[in-house]
Amino acid sequence: MATSAARPGTVPPKDLESFQAHLNKSTRILALLGAGLSASSGLPTFRGAGGLWRTHDAVQLATPEAFGRDPGLVWQFYNYRRHMALQAKPNPAHYALADLARKKDGFLTLSQNVDGLSPRASHPEDKLKLLHGSLYDVKCSDFFCNYFEKNNYTDPIVPALAIPTDDSDPTTTEAIKARELDISDENIALPEIDYNHLPKCPTCKRGLLRPGVVWFGEMLPKDVLSDIDEWLTESDKIDLIMVIGTSAKVYPAAGYVDLARAKGARVAVINMDKKDQPASGMYKRDWFFEGDAATIVPELLKSVVGEITEMPDAAGTA
Ligand code: APR
Repeated sequence: MATSAARPGTVPPKDLESFQAHLNKSTRILALLGAGLSASSGLPTFRGAGGLWRTHDAVQLATPEAFGRDPGLVWQFYNYRRHMALQAKPNPAHYALADLARKKDGFLTLSQNVDGLSPRASHPEDKLKLLHGSLYDVKCSDFFCNYFEKNNYTDPIVPALAIPTDDSDPTTTEAIKARELDISDENIALPEIDYNHLPKCPTCKRGLLRPGVVWFGEMLPKDVLSDIDEWLTESDKIDLIMVIGTSAKVYPAAGYVDLARAKGARVAVINMDKKDQPASGMYKRDWFFEGDAATIVPELLKSVVGEITEMPDAAGTA
């Protein structure tokens, strides 16, 4: 395993050279993306610092049971995440990966991120498989209803879920008055939401709408899985898998690292935390690039995509 002797965030020249030599000749490449890719865009990850929303473990809110028990709370969490992700901007790593997808035909990205930042960086849609869905898809929670809406960027999704603002201080100016309160902080009171004011299904008129993300205990989207299977079975070999900003602990997503290895892939991990290695560990010919994905990924991909200069945001059109 190549190790980084340089300070985190910079790529040791020898590792950069060997990685780029391999990347340049690779024709079948996978990337597995996680929340760490969007960390420097200002969005919190799930495990470790930032994994708490108020007093709730973010992972505990991402279940059908939590939604069944308290749909108002779960919608407040997801409406907040939709809002925050809309305020955030894709970073150079999102753009570099999107560009790699345009330049290398045989490059497929598997993303666990639901934040919409890769689509907004114009990552080609057919080269981007959203394993865990998207915050901007909504569907009916009623078992018998198939209502599904793609790319719903309405913020707030219904008026009752608007982020409360601080207008309590009479001395503040209009601008400060309109300051949004940080409802991820448990010290800020959460407004009571009337069940009848939550998003309702426009088709069956019975069910509540729910976020189009994959919750714990749920199947990954069938069409996404079959597209990936098709790509995997196109050839016996895979040259490279980049494992970017993910703790690689959630399955089946994390299992793609071993699948790629079994087809000969060398593994390149890009992560802030040296301990976050794939379950199979690191092999001799792997790379671990320690530091911020937003800096390291564009550096690694430069030999194919060049310098990332333009960063147009396709917000709302993705
Ligand atoms: N650059 C690179 N890596 C980073 C950065 C950064 N700036 N910041 C954090 N990381 C790393 C962390 O060290 C950690 O390994 O990103 C990883 C984030 O891990 P998780 O919070 O577990 O996120 P992820 O792997 O995407 O979680 C997988 O779990 O909760 C579910 O459905 C949710 O898709 C999510 C899945």
